[in-house]
Amino acid sequence: MQQLVIQGPSKWDGEIQIEGAKNACLPIMAATLLVQGEVRINNVPSLCDIQSMLALLKDLGAQAKYKDKLLVTNIEQDICSVASYDLVKKMRASILVLGPLLARTGFAKVSLPGGCAIGARPVDQHIKFMKALGADVVVSEGFVVAKAPEAGLQGCDFHFDVITVTGTENAIMAAVLARGKSILRNASTEPEVLCLIEFLVSCGAKIKVAESFIEIEGVSSLTAPRSVFTVIGDRMEAGTYLIGAMMVRGSIKVRGIQPGILEHVLDLMRQAGAEIKVDEDEKTISLVMKRRPKAVSICTNVYPGFPTDLQAQWMSLAAVSEGESLITETIFENRMMHACELMRMGAQIEVQGNKARVRGVEFLTAAPVMASDLRASASLVLAACCAIGETLVQRIYHIDRGYADIEGKLSKLGVNIVRQLQLMEV
Ligand code: EPZ
Repeated sequence: MQQLVIQGPSKWDGEIQIEGAKNACLPIMAATLLVQGEVRINNVPSLCDIQSMLALLKDLGAQAKYKDKLLVTNIEQDICSVASYDLVKKMRASILVLGPLLARTGFAKVSLPGGCAIGARPVDQHIKFMKALGADVVVSEGFVVAKAPEAGLQGCDFHFDVITVTGTENAIMAAVLARGKSILRNASTEPEVLCLIEFLVSCGAKIKVAESFIEIEGVSSLTAPRSVFTVIGDRMEAGTYLIGAMMVRGSIKVRGIQPGILEHVLDLMRQAGAEIKVDEDEKTISLVMKRRPKAVSICTNVYPGFPTDLQAQWMSLAAVSEGESLITETIFENRMMHACELMRMGAQIEVQGNKARVRGVEFLTAAPVMASDLRASASLVLAACCAIGETLVQRIYHIDRGYADIEGKLSKLGVNIVRQLQLMEV
């Protein structure tokens, strides 16, 4: 395994290019299974999760190649409809091939993604929707097995019991080729879901996003868009680096991100004392932090609320802010594990259930810490950048799932960081 060795504290000053959104690319890659012809998708980040989805598409029979952020796929008529456990276990988002395979071939057998560190991560809503389209769906021997009726999938009026991002995405991809109209109520409208919808519409899907529902008119087939489709910027990567600049009281300019999709987070950053300038046309956000951040409480919520994928990073910020703040996690049942690792670095945090009370300290101190999930690992890297001494962040395979070239980007900002082989876990 590998670890990151980070000398702190650092002072950031510089600019970085934000990658395409991982959580928009993954559903769009799955959606290429629905499309006839060669599809070209740009701004696809070089990440382990992207490689996992690429491997899955190829295993299903797709022609797919990826180079310099450009992904080209071509799905022949006969594709396999069985997504193996070996591939699905590598990444939960593999469940996103369920909808497209069922819609395109009338059959899908996808390994159930297990839970993960942050929660049980059930897929009951995904299954409930496929059944509502008329599919026969059973879960057996660790697989979801779905079979469309002879007459084909039939559109439906469906209300999600919980707002689920990939559940909504799977539903959209299953409904776009179903007969008739589908209405998705209580659906997710995260920017990454809207980016998937934009991609599908560019392939000829008929989808409308209203205030409180998504309406889909089934079509007989989808064809590749004439031009390259460009994925939106990754708001979680951008938010992570902006929070880091606040923690080290530095300055940063992030390029390739629409400021509007981070509006609520930017407002909270201003409340904490950050000076922020945005340019929607240029797709840039500039931040300067001249003094110690002031403590600001957050409560995670679905878009446009505070994103759960920035909660761990905000907890690191709270750990060095002036005053006391309350961090509340409402999306996942176990997304506070980074708190223990931050406490090893001197953070004053009291966790009770899904709430963490944080009393800011002037400086954190370096320590060997261990990442538990993708965003927790990012929060530990940020803490290491402002801690005094040398921090070892272990199990960084988590971070490589969602942050391309993190040591290159941080070095460019002025951080003393190296990746090395981890001989043993301390
Ligand atoms: C997506 O996961 C993201 N992953 C997650 O990002 C993100 O944290 C999450 O949405 C919330 O925004 C991708 O897009 C690939 P959910 P997803 O279904 O879709 C419950 C990262 O860091 N639920 O919106 O799996 C569930 O237990 C990752 O990039 C059901 O009960 O999350 C959770 O409490 C981590 N039944 C809540 O809904 C279901 O059928 C939201 O989960 C589905 C979900």
